[in-house]
Amino acid sequence: MAKNFLLLLILAVFLGCPSPEADLNELVDTTLDFAESQLEEAVQTISDSTRFPNSTDESGDWNVTKSSSWIAGFFPGCLWYMYERTEEDRWKEWAEKWTAGMEPEKDNPGTHDLGFMIFNSFGHGHRLTENPHYKDVILQTANTLATRFDPDVGCIKSWDWMDENDYPVIIDNMMNLELLFWAAKNGGNSEWIDMAIRHALNTIENHVRPDGGTYHVVLYDQDTGEVLERITHQGYADESTWARGQAWGIYGFTMTYRETEDERFLETAQKMADYFIDHLPEDFVPYWDFNAPNIPDEERDTSAGAIAASALLELSELSADQQKKLFYRYTAENILRSLCQKPYLAKGTDSAAVLLHGVGNKPGGKQIDVALIYGDYYLIEALLRYERLPKS
Ligand code: GLY
Repeated sequence: MAKNFLLLLILAVFLGCPSPEADLNELVDTTLDFAESQLEEAVQTISDSTRFPNSTDESGDWNVTKSSSWIAGFFPGCLWYMYERTEEDRWKEWAEKWTAGMEPEKDNPGTHDLGFMIFNSFGHGHRLTENPHYKDVILQTANTLATRFDPDVGCIKSWDWMDENDYPVIIDNMMNLELLFWAAKNGGNSEWIDMAIRHALNTIENHVRPDGGTYHVVLYDQDTGEVLERITHQGYADESTWARGQAWGIYGFTMTYRETEDERFLETAQKMADYFIDHLPEDFVPYWDFNAPNIPDEERDTSAGAIAASALLELSELSADQQKKLFYRYTAENILRSLCQKPYLAKGTDSAAVLLHGVGNKPGGKQIDVALIYGDYYLIEALLRYERLPKS
């Protein structure tokens, strides 16, 4: 993919192609309108703010889950994004309602996913309303998340359900660091920044391979911090690169660079982005695992595409190198162009979601080729990011 990039740009300029940007602008706008109608329908259908959309069932309706699920914060996050776009009070009221439904999780020490859960709900709420209670909730949650950091290992523990001596850390966990950075910089404990940085540095050291691909899970020794094993949970194989894990890493390291300005994080985000882009198929929507054995007869994971598109838009802004800037932006735009059309967009189907064709956990036999609320969330985020960027 990378080697074709300059050639494509040169051809587009010299052959005088009509601007693909105009066409993408329209797709972005109509997709956000579609997201608005799908989310309004979900608000009316679900109604109960202790229930949160997760993935779609065979009829295309949302399966719902409780606030303690890692995905619960994405629905209020989508509602806040709609409030940001429309500035309409009804979206604010709905976002507040489902955000309040997340509050019990501020004291939940049993999960590392508190960033996903609380920063995507209360975090957006605070950003858009400056409600002081939201800030209190975020600070309290950061305090809870910090209890999962072990100084001997130098990481936040991901799961409590493995062997007692194993200390699992998954690449996804990079996403939860944003809550710690924000909280530390907004009245919380400054040590939360040190924890986030140590976690991110250990993730560079132990999850990222020399070619920029990643391991999904690293098992550390609880007492010594030594790496015991590198395995997968949702990917195809221990040595493969699971597409969503790679997307979480690109997003997480880009965010960590934004928060720290430490070049090691920028280099890692770029290395992981280059791997991701090099392994994309022609339509820019990733297969669920880059090393899945039956490509092209494997499922795509649109959620990985949406997360990566959002991350690449930010990475293009933060990268100083002009060619990299263009390359990341060009790739993000091409991912979005595909996701905003058939067969990926749910328009014209019976699905309650925005984005079809996601994969939750194929090895676990769960959520294969379904819509996923986090796919919708990151698609909406990426489209809003795209709209805010200066047009080339
Ligand atoms: N653990 C988050 C995910 O499945 O991507």
